[in-house]
Amino acid sequence: MKGIIMAGGKGTRLYPSTRAVSKQLLPIYDKPLIYYPLSVLMLAEIRDILVISTPHDLPQYRELLGDGSRIGLHIEYKVQSEPNGLAQAFIIGEDFIGSDSVCFILGDNVFYGRALTSILESAITHLNGAMIFGYPVKDPTSFGVVEIDENRKAISIEEKPKQPKSDLAVPGLYFYNNSVIDIAKSIKPSARGELEITAVNNRYLELGKLDVTLLGRGMAWLDTGTPESMLKAAQFIKAVQDIQGFYISCIEEIAWRRGMITHDRLMELGEELKNTEYGKYILSLND
Ligand code: G1P
Repeated sequence: MKGIIMAGGKGTRLYPSTRAVSKQLLPIYDKPLIYYPLSVLMLAEIRDILVISTPHDLPQYRELLGDGSRIGLHIEYKVQSEPNGLAQAFIIGEDFIGSDSVCFILGDNVFYGRALTSILESAITHLNGAMIFGYPVKDPTSFGVVEIDENRKAISIEEKPKQPKSDLAVPGLYFYNNSVIDIAKSIKPSARGELEITAVNNRYLELGKLDVTLLGRGMAWLDTGTPESMLKAAQFIKAVQDIQGFYISCIEEIAWRRGMITHDRLMELGEELKNTEYGKYILSLND
C-alpha cells in the first residue's frame, strides 16, 4: 500500500501566520503539523509516501523530510499547481500509486488513540473498495458528513452540509483500492470548482464498495483549522506527553520501534536534536 499526504491549501483561516508559511509546517506544540499525519502512515506500515503541495511550499517540505531515508522511508514529492481539490491527488499521483492501493491523509489531521494501530491494520486487511471513518462531533457542518443505517452501512455522504443528516464527521484519512485513480478522473468539479474527496466517496457508495469504521470515544481527532484549534491541539499534545512521558508522533521513535532504523541510527538522529526536549527524548529511548 502507498501513502499520500496532501499538504496544499492556502490556510486562509490562519492568516497572517500562513501568509508565507504552509499551514502543515506550523508547529503543533513541539513538532511540525505534518509529522502527525506522517506518523499515522508509518503506524500503518506504509513506507512509500508521496507529499503533494503547492509550487511555493513543496521545496520546504522537501527540506524538512528529504527523501525519507533518514527514517527508513521513501518519500516523493509532486506539485499541485492549482487548488483543484483533494481528489486531484490521485491523478497527480497516478504513476506513484501504480497498481497499488492507497492510504490518503490530509496534512492537517491529527489522530491520537490507543486503538489507532489496530484500526489502521483492520482497515488495510478488510479493504474492499474504500474505507472511510466516522467521528462524532458537536458541529459537523465544516466537514464531510456520513449518514449510516443500523448496520453501520453508509447511506449518504455530504460535503459541509448546512443541515447535517448525522453528527458523524468524516476525518481526513481514507483507504482506497486502485480504482480510485479512475474514479478521480471520472468525477466532475463541484460548485466551488474542486474535485471533492466526498465525490470520490460517493462514487464508491454508488458502487456498493464503501465501508465506514466508526471512531469512538477513545480516539482523539483534533481540528487544526483556526488559531484557537491549533492552540487546543498543542495543549492536548503537551498534556499527554507531560503526563505519560511518551511522545506523540515522534517519527524517529516510530521508525525505530517499527524496525525501520537501528538503535544506533536513532541515537544519531537524537544527537542532531539534542538541544531540544524532543531530541533529549529520542536520546532517552533504550533497547
Ligand atoms: C476536507 C474534506 C472534508 C473532511 C475534512 C477533514 O475538508 O473535504 O470532507 O471532513 O477535510 O479534515 P477541508 O478541511 O479541506 O475543508
